[in-house]
Amino acid sequence: MTVAIELRVRRAGVSDAVAACDCVRRSITELCIADHRGDAATLDAWLRNKTGENFERWIDATPDLCWVALCEDRIAGYAQCDGRGQVLLLYIEPRLRGHGVSSALLAAMEAAGRERGLAALTLDSTQTALRFYLSRGFVPAGAARPGFGVSLCQPLVKALNGGGAAAGLTAATPA
Ligand SMILES: CC(C)(COP(=O)(O)OP(=O)(O)OC[C@H]1O[C@@H](n2cnc3c(N)ncnc32)[C@H](O)[C@@H]1OP(=O)(O)O)[C@@H](O)C(=O)NCCC(=O)NCCS
Repeated sequence: MTVAIELRVRRAGVSDAVAACDCVRRSITELCIADHRGDAATLDAWLRNKTGENFERWIDATPDLCWVALCEDRIAGYAQCDGRGQVLLLYIEPRLRGHGVSSALLAAMEAAGRERGLAALTLDSTQTALRFYLSRGFVPAGAARPGFGVSLCQPLVKALNGGGAAAGLTAATPA
């Protein structure tokens, strides 16, 4: 049985950077095993730009496009998109899998996309998260392509109701 937890989602601040980075790194390492398959070079490439300094920089550059989910005031997940609606990062605290963290962060990005008049959200999904995104209304947008090292990512798109042209804000480019 899944125990309900209390989750809160808010915009990230630079003071969240180190804890958010740590959460993302553990999420990749511990949850994305189907993608990196334990391959050290793949993990190294994937984690290389996931540093506290980079998270500070990304959050500082686009604070309105970065979110944290909190459970008992601790970081439960982190999400970031660019101004065109490309989801760049969506990672959760491993022990909180199945508690609605990704759903809550995705809902925050979708709401922000609608507010900005974006037509769609797009992303390159891990194999790990593919079932999650398909069950949340995303559809494939082309063939899978190489990701970090041995991993493959699947381009996906989800139309946002009544969306118009992309607002075209500054885009950060973590992956
Ligand atoms: C798969 C994953 C994204 C789901 O996030 P979550 O916070 O656990 O998901 P939620 O609790 O919000 O929603 C549950 C959904 O996740 C999916 N899910 C749950 N456990 C899963 C598992 N072990 N493996 C794959 N998908 C799973 C199901 O689709 C489920 O949908 P349902 O509620 O309709 O049955 C997350 O567990 C995960 O592994 N993240 C790793 C990081 C990653 O790959 N991020 C995406 C980068 S593109």
